[in-house]
Amino acid sequence: MNLAKTTIRIGLPAPIRLLHLSDTHFCKADEFDPEHMHAHAANRLRNAFLHNGEDRIQEYWDEAVAYAKENNMPILHTGDLIDFLTHGCGAHAKKLLGEIDCFFAIGNHELCHQVGKAREDLSYKMEQLPVCQPFFKDPLLFASRVIGGVNFVAVDDGYYLFTDWQRQRLEYEVSKGYPIILMMHNPIHTDELYEIMMNEKKQPCAYLTGTPEEMMKCYPENRYNQQLADEPTRRFIDYIAHEPAIKAILAGHLHFNWEGELPWGVMQYVTGGGFLGVAREIEII
Ligand SMILES: [Fe+2]
Ligand SMILES: [Fe+2]
Repeated sequence: MNLAKTTIRIGLPAPIRLLHLSDTHFCKADEFDPEHMHAHAANRLRNAFLHNGEDRIQEYWDEAVAYAKENNMPILHTGDLIDFLTHGCGAHAKKLLGEIDCFFAIGNHELCHQVGKAREDLSYKMEQLPVCQPFFKDPLLFASRVIGGVNFVAVDDGYYLFTDWQRQRLEYEVSKGYPIILMMHNPIHTDELYEIMMNEKKQPCAYLTGTPEEMMKCYPENRYNQQLADEPTRRFIDYIAHEPAIKAILAGHLHFNWEGELPWGVMQYVTGGGFLGVAREIEII
């Protein structure tokens, strides 16, 4: 396991420790899945998720879970636990999440019936959600849980958008009076992350929520349309930028560790791929 350690200082009377995992990307199909999905699972694993040529996903998961249990740390997972939505993946996720104390924020891959086969927009999400939700304990579009006096709020932004409904739910969470740590799959745009994705990682787009439109002119058309923030998304980001109860953001999606300030000074922690054995121990003091 490649364990990062992070301290978040919010003036908590009694410190708490948690383990942040993301992007595990289990690739599975079982007897309830059609034959072509068994081939899809094998291809996705081979092409995207081997570590030094080996499938170590389950081994890294077990190692992280054992570490969390030994240290009495709840797990926070920011999505892409599974790579696509087969019965095999869903049932595996349900089994694993039933064995541990885990609070979960959905990724983009949980809703994906076969990677690369659908336009991932709101109507697709609404079609897939009733298939996906029964495999997960926490409500997938918005959920909250208080742990040790901190309100962890999980918000779906897997398609680079927030809704006014999510902002209203967040306002209600703020009214409860706890310090809040937001969990979401796609990181919020920062210029530094954008530079890393575009220039260092040589990606065609930055895969961030809320990237300013003028910085997206160079994106391929499909990525521009996918990642352009709409009005509710801009309102959501403006709300969290001005809400002092929100102390930090935990995210994933990019498959590498990064931490840095959002434009308004709050820290954002991106945790890398669980399929590579990455985990982040977080102490909140
Ligand atoms: Fe991922
Ligand atoms: Fe993702």
